[in-house]
Amino acid sequence: RLAGSAHDKGFRLARHGRLVSTNDEALTRAKSGDPGRLWIIAESQSGGRGRNGRVWSSPPGNLYASLLLIDPAPPRRAPELGFVAGIALALALRGVLSGDHRLAIKWPNDILHDGAKLGGILLEATSLSDGRFACVAGIGINCRSHPQDTLYPATNLAAVTGGAVTAELVFERLSTAMAEWLEVWAAGNGFEMIRAEWLSLAAGLGGRISVSRAGQSIEGVFKTIDPTGRLIVEQASGEAAIEAGDVFLLAQ
Ligand code: BTN
Repeated sequence: RLAGSAHDKGFRLARHGRLVSTNDEALTRAKSGDPGRLWIIAESQSGGRGRNGRVWSSPPGNLYASLLLIDPAPPRRAPELGFVAGIALALALRGVLSGDHRLAIKWPNDILHDGAKLGGILLEATSLSDGRFACVAGIGINCRSHPQDTLYPATNLAAVTGGAVTAELVFERLSTAMAEWLEVWAAGNGFEMIRAEWLSLAAGLGGRISVSRAGQSIEGVFKTIDPTGRLIVEQASGEAAIEAGDVFLLAQ
Protein backbone atom coordinates (compact mmCIF):
# COMPACT_ATOMS: atom_id res chain seq x y z
CA ARG A 1 0.00 0.00 0.00
CA LEU A 2 1.47 3.35 -0.97
CA ALA A 3 0.28 6.15 1.25
CA GLY A 4 1.47 9.03 -0.88
CA SER A 5 4.27 11.38 0.01
CA ALA A 6 5.56 11.27 3.57
CA HIS A 7 4.46 14.63 4.85
CA ASP A 8 6.08 16.94 2.30
CA LYS A 9 9.56 15.80 3.17
CA GLY A 10 10.22 14.41 -0.25
CA PHE A 11 9.76 10.79 0.81
CA ARG A 12 7.24 8.21 -0.32
CA LEU A 13 5.93 5.79 2.27
CA ALA A 14 4.87 2.15 1.94
CA ARG A 15 3.13 0.70 4.99
CA HIS A 16 2.86 -3.01 5.56
CA GLY A 17 1.41 -5.31 8.17
CA ARG A 18 3.81 -8.19 8.64
CA LEU A 19 6.93 -8.43 6.46
CA VAL A 20 9.95 -10.71 6.59
CA SER A 21 12.19 -7.65 6.88
CA THR A 22 11.71 -4.03 5.82
CA ASN A 23 15.35 -4.03 4.64
CA ASP A 24 14.65 -6.99 2.35
CA GLU A 25 11.55 -5.25 1.00
CA ALA A 26 13.56 -2.07 0.32
CA LEU A 27 16.27 -4.02 -1.51
CA THR A 28 13.66 -5.89 -3.56
CA ARG A 29 12.04 -2.60 -4.55
CA ALA A 30 15.43 -1.18 -5.51
CA LYS A 31 16.03 -4.15 -7.80
CA SER A 32 12.67 -3.49 -9.48
CA GLY A 33 13.74 0.05 -10.34
CA ASP A 34 12.37 2.08 -7.45
CA PRO A 35 13.77 5.64 -7.60
CA GLY A 36 14.48 5.78 -3.86
CA ARG A 37 13.61 8.18 -1.05
CA LEU A 38 11.13 5.47 -0.10
CA TRP A 39 10.29 4.52 3.47
CA ILE A 40 9.09 0.98 4.12
CA ILE A 41 7.33 0.43 7.45
CA ALA A 42 6.07 -2.84 8.90
CA GLU A 43 3.95 -3.51 11.97
CA SER A 44 5.98 -6.64 12.66
CA GLN A 45 8.69 -8.71 10.99
CA SER A 46 9.08 -12.48 10.76
CA GLY A 47 12.76 -12.30 9.84
CA GLY A 48 14.01 -9.02 11.31
CA ARG A 49 17.78 -8.76 11.03
CA GLY A 50 20.29 -7.01 13.27
CA ARG A 51 23.96 -6.26 12.77
CA ASN A 52 26.55 -9.01 12.56
CA GLY A 53 24.03 -11.66 11.53
CA ARG A 54 21.93 -11.34 14.68
CA VAL A 55 18.16 -11.72 14.82
CA TRP A 56 16.10 -8.55 15.49
CA SER A 57 13.08 -9.62 17.47
CA SER A 58 10.13 -7.81 15.85
CA PRO A 59 6.74 -8.16 17.58
CA PRO A 60 3.95 -5.60 16.94
CA GLY A 61 4.19 -2.32 18.87
CA ASN A 62 7.71 -1.26 17.94
CA LEU A 63 9.03 0.71 14.97
CA TYR A 64 10.47 -1.19 12.00
CA ALA A 65 11.37 1.20 9.19
CA SER A 66 13.79 1.19 6.28
CA LEU A 67 14.74 4.12 4.10
CA LEU A 68 15.83 3.31 0.55
CA LEU A 69 18.11 5.81 -1.17
CA ILE A 70 19.50 5.46 -4.67
CA ASP A 71 22.93 6.95 -5.38
CA PRO A 72 22.92 9.26 -2.33
CA ALA A 73 26.73 9.37 -2.48
CA PRO A 74 29.59 7.54 -4.19
CA PRO A 75 29.66 3.89 -2.99
CA ARG A 76 32.81 4.36 -0.89
CA ARG A 77 30.93 6.99 1.15
CA ALA A 78 27.90 4.76 1.81
CA PRO A 79 28.89 4.01 5.45
CA GLU A 80 28.42 7.71 6.21
CA LEU A 81 24.67 7.19 5.84
CA GLY A 82 24.68 5.11 9.02
CA PHE A 83 26.00 8.10 10.95
CA VAL A 84 23.47 10.44 9.29
CA ALA A 85 20.68 8.06 10.35
CA GLY A 86 22.13 7.75 13.87
CA ILE A 87 22.08 11.52 14.32
CA ALA A 88 18.54 11.82 12.94
CA LEU A 89 17.32 9.07 15.22
CA ALA A 90 19.00 10.39 18.36
CA LEU A 91 17.67 13.91 17.77
CA ALA A 92 14.20 12.61 16.89
CA LEU A 93 14.09 10.66 20.15
CA ARG A 94 15.38 13.64 22.12
CA GLY A 95 12.42 15.50 20.64
CA VAL A 96 10.00 12.78 21.69
CA LEU A 97 11.53 12.60 25.19
CA SER A 98 11.54 16.39 25.72
CA GLY A 99 15.24 16.97 25.19
CA ASP A 100 16.33 14.04 27.35
CA HIS A 101 20.12 14.07 27.21
CA ARG A 102 20.48 10.54 28.53
CA LEU A 103 20.01 9.57 24.88
CA ALA A 104 23.25 8.90 23.10
CA ILE A 105 24.63 7.00 20.11
CA LYS A 106 26.98 4.08 20.61
CA TRP A 107 29.33 3.34 17.74
CA PRO A 108 28.57 2.53 15.08
CA ASN A 109 24.91 3.50 15.47
CA ASP A 110 23.02 2.01 18.40
CA ILE A 111 20.69 4.33 20.28
CA LEU A 112 21.08 4.17 24.04
CA HIS A 113 19.04 5.56 26.90
CA ASP A 114 21.02 5.63 30.12
CA GLY A 115 23.30 2.99 28.63
CA ALA A 116 20.50 0.59 27.63
CA LYS A 117 19.78 -0.08 23.98
CA LEU A 118 16.56 1.49 22.67
CA GLY A 119 17.19 0.68 19.05
CA GLY A 120 19.66 0.16 16.28
CA ILE A 121 20.41 0.71 12.62
CA LEU A 122 21.29 -1.86 9.99
CA LEU A 123 22.89 -0.24 6.96
CA GLU A 124 22.97 -2.27 3.76
CA ALA A 125 24.21 -1.22 0.34
CA THR A 126 24.40 -2.96 -3.00
CA SER A 127 25.18 -2.23 -6.62
CA LEU A 128 22.19 -2.83 -8.91
CA SER A 129 22.39 -4.48 -12.31
CA ASP A 130 21.45 -1.19 -14.00
CA GLY A 131 24.55 0.47 -12.54
CA ARG A 132 22.74 2.36 -9.78
CA PHE A 133 23.78 2.04 -6.15
CA ALA A 134 21.16 1.28 -3.48
CA CYS A 135 21.57 2.16 0.20
CA VAL A 136 19.13 1.03 2.87
CA ALA A 137 19.10 2.39 6.40
CA GLY A 138 16.99 -0.03 8.45
CA ILE A 139 15.90 1.32 11.80
CA GLY A 140 14.39 -0.59 14.70
CA ILE A 141 13.16 1.19 17.84
CA ASN A 142 11.80 -0.53 20.92
CA CYS A 143 8.65 1.47 21.58
CA ARG A 144 6.48 -0.93 23.57
CA SER A 145 8.77 -3.87 24.35
CA HIS A 146 12.36 -5.05 24.14
CA PRO A 147 13.84 -8.52 23.94
CA GLN A 148 15.45 -10.21 26.93
CA ASP A 149 18.77 -12.06 26.83
CA THR A 150 20.38 -9.66 24.41
CA LEU A 151 24.06 -8.98 23.82
CA TYR A 152 23.57 -5.50 25.28
CA PRO A 153 21.24 -4.40 28.10
CA ALA A 154 18.04 -3.17 26.42
CA THR A 155 15.03 -1.00 27.20
CA ASN A 156 11.97 0.47 25.47
CA LEU A 157 10.30 3.88 25.22
CA ALA A 158 7.25 2.90 27.27
CA ALA A 159 9.48 1.77 30.14
CA VAL A 160 11.59 4.93 29.89
CA THR A 161 8.65 7.36 29.84
CA GLY A 162 6.18 5.41 31.95
CA GLY A 163 3.64 6.20 29.21
CA ALA A 164 2.95 5.28 25.64
CA VAL A 165 5.12 6.47 22.80
CA THR A 166 3.79 5.05 19.56
CA ALA A 167 5.86 3.83 16.65
CA GLU A 168 3.86 6.29 14.54
CA LEU A 169 4.99 9.30 16.58
CA VAL A 170 8.61 8.17 16.54
CA PHE A 171 8.43 7.68 12.78
CA GLU A 172 7.00 11.19 12.21
CA ARG A 173 9.91 12.75 14.09
CA LEU A 174 12.45 10.43 12.52
CA SER A 175 11.27 11.19 9.02
CA THR A 176 11.51 14.96 9.64
CA ALA A 177 14.98 14.67 11.17
CA MET A 178 16.16 12.37 8.38
CA ALA A 179 15.10 14.88 5.72
CA GLU A 180 17.04 17.62 7.54
CA TRP A 181 20.21 15.62 8.06
CA LEU A 182 20.23 14.16 4.57
CA GLU A 183 20.24 17.74 3.38
CA VAL A 184 23.15 18.63 5.66
CA TRP A 185 25.00 15.57 4.38
CA ALA A 186 24.35 16.43 0.73
CA ALA A 187 25.16 20.12 1.13
CA GLY A 188 27.95 19.80 3.63
CA ASN A 189 31.66 19.58 3.45
CA GLY A 190 32.09 15.85 2.92
CA PHE A 191 31.63 13.90 6.14
CA GLU A 192 32.95 16.62 8.45
CA MET A 193 29.70 18.19 9.70
CA ILE A 194 28.14 14.79 10.19
CA ARG A 195 31.18 13.56 12.07
CA ALA A 196 31.17 16.61 14.39
CA GLU A 197 27.46 16.28 15.21
CA TRP A 198 27.78 12.52 15.69
CA LEU A 199 30.65 13.01 18.15
CA SER A 200 28.54 15.49 20.13
CA LEU A 201 25.94 12.73 20.60
CA ALA A 202 28.40 9.87 21.18
CA ALA A 203 28.21 7.64 24.25
CA GLY A 204 31.43 6.88 26.08
CA LEU A 205 33.68 9.34 24.26
CA GLY A 206 36.94 9.66 26.20
CA GLY A 207 36.05 6.66 28.35
CA ARG A 208 37.20 3.06 28.43
CA ILE A 209 35.53 0.63 26.06
CA SER A 210 36.03 -2.88 24.89
CA VAL A 211 35.43 -3.82 21.27
CA SER A 212 34.86 -7.37 20.17
CA ARG A 213 34.77 -8.89 16.75
CA ALA A 214 34.91 -12.52 15.67
CA GLY A 215 35.82 -13.74 19.15
CA GLN A 216 38.67 -11.24 19.59
CA SER A 217 38.42 -8.23 21.85
CA ILE A 218 40.50 -5.19 22.57
CA GLU A 219 40.25 -2.64 25.38
CA GLY A 220 41.23 1.00 25.38
CA VAL A 221 40.06 4.61 25.43
CA PHE A 222 37.49 5.75 22.86
CA LYS A 223 39.28 8.75 21.30
CA THR A 224 37.18 9.68 18.28
CA ILE A 225 35.92 8.49 14.91
CA ASP A 226 38.15 9.19 11.93
CA PRO A 227 37.13 10.89 8.67
CA THR A 228 35.91 7.55 7.30
CA GLY A 229 33.87 6.66 10.39
CA ARG A 230 36.29 4.14 11.88
CA LEU A 231 36.41 3.90 15.65
CA ILE A 232 39.74 5.09 17.08
CA VAL A 233 40.77 3.34 20.28
CA GLU A 234 43.89 4.30 22.18
CA GLN A 235 45.85 1.53 23.81
CA ALA A 236 49.23 1.51 25.56
CA SER A 237 50.69 0.13 22.34
CA GLY A 238 49.24 2.91 20.17
CA GLU A 239 46.00 3.67 18.33
CA ALA A 240 43.77 1.08 16.70
CA ALA A 241 41.32 2.03 13.91
CA ILE A 242 38.33 -0.32 13.93
CA GLU A 243 35.96 -0.81 11.02
CA ALA A 244 33.40 -3.18 12.54
CA GLY A 245 32.66 -4.74 15.89
CA ASP A 246 30.58 -4.64 19.06
CA VAL A 247 31.38 -1.92 21.55
CA PHE A 248 30.86 -2.26 25.30
CA LEU A 249 31.15 0.82 27.52
CA LEU A 250 33.20 -0.07 30.59
CA ALA A 251 32.72 1.33 34.08
CA GLN A 252 35.01 4.36 34.37
C1 BTN B 1 21.16 -3.66 15.27
O1 BTN B 1 21.25 -2.90 16.24
O2 BTN B 1 21.65 -4.79 15.28
C2 BTN B 1 20.41 -3.15 14.06
C3 BTN B 1 18.95 -3.46 14.15
C4 BTN B 1 18.18 -3.02 12.93
C5 BTN B 1 16.76 -3.51 12.96
C6 BTN B 1 15.92 -2.90 11.88
S1 BTN B 1 14.18 -3.16 12.07
C7 BTN B 1 13.89 -2.51 10.49
C8 BTN B 1 14.98 -3.06 9.58
N1 BTN B 1 14.62 -4.37 9.08
C9 BTN B 1 15.44 -5.33 9.53
O3 BTN B 1 15.34 -6.55 9.25
N2 BTN B 1 16.37 -4.80 10.34
C10 BTN B 1 16.21 -3.36 10.45
